[in-house]
Amino acid sequence: MLRILHFSDVHLSVPVGDLPAADLEPKRLLGAANLLLRRRRRFLEAREQVAALAEFAAREALDAVVCTGDYTALGTVPELGLAREAIAPLTRRPLGFATVPGNHDVYVESGALEQRFERAFDGLLSSDLPDLAVDGPWPLVRLLGDDAAVVCVNSARPNPQLWRSSGQVPTAQLAALRRALDDARVSDRFVLVATHYAPFRPDGRPDKAWHGLVNADALLSAIGSRARTVLVHGHLHERFALPRTAQRPAIFCAGSATDRHHQSVWVYEVDRTSLRAYPATWSGGRYALDRAGPALTAK
Ligand SMILES: [Fe+2]
Ligand SMILES: [Fe+2]
Repeated sequence: MLRILHFSDVHLSVPVGDLPAADLEPKRLLGAANLLLRRRRRFLEAREQVAALAEFAAREALDAVVCTGDYTALGTVPELGLAREAIAPLTRRPLGFATVPGNHDVYVESGALEQRFERAFDGLLSSDLPDLAVDGPWPLVRLLGDDAAVVCVNSARPNPQLWRSSGQVPTAQLAALRRALDDARVSDRFVLVATHYAPFRPDGRPDKAWHGLVNADALLSAIGSRARTVLVHGHLHERFALPRTAQRPAIFCAGSATDRHHQSVWVYEVDRTSLRAYPATWSGGRYALDRAGPALTAK
């Protein structure tokens, strides 16, 4: 049995005054103002909480870690460097680390074109099955021991429009995801499909068009209701789970590990045939597993 930490949306930031002037384009200026006036207060302890998360993973002897993006606030080079440094201990669990970027990590087009995320996270984005990749490293596959696999697809994209923060999984990645799930090296394992964006809100309704995953139906259809497969994501800052239906897999949202209104993560206990999910929450200056309630189980 493997134990996997899933966290998301830590939104580490540096003081706006420390950002290069070239980074302060219109959308970043708006984002920076928003960050300064409102969001920053919600993530004041983010750096310490990421360190505490690494301590938690070591204390619980967790085998592997999955992060579903939004490492930064504005996707700038200084923030991405800070994030890479902050998560370094989390990348050294025995069975490794799997990740995707969030929309905040590819905030505007210049960041995506310069591949800032890929550069900052170089070394963490090589797939165990590179022959399945069709779009840069995506889909990126991590084989965890003999029983589990994480298949990462990238749904984050720049949104130059000031009002929009929606995501999309490119069509080529969806076709490759189907191939990956059918591949003999993956299909006899329990599979976590990981992406940043959320198909649904916690109440099971689709996310708003300007904020959601525009081709959520296509992603869910690529996964289908196949057994031993779940979708894990972030973007929404509230931890929740939705059960599998006849049409789609069970879905787990990690919420935000550092948003002071939520501060939680999932720990998945996985074997070849099932996944049990336990929440872990921030309390008394550290993360702790909450085993009081029944585990949520997916098969
Ligand atoms: Fe976020
Ligand atoms: Fe996001």
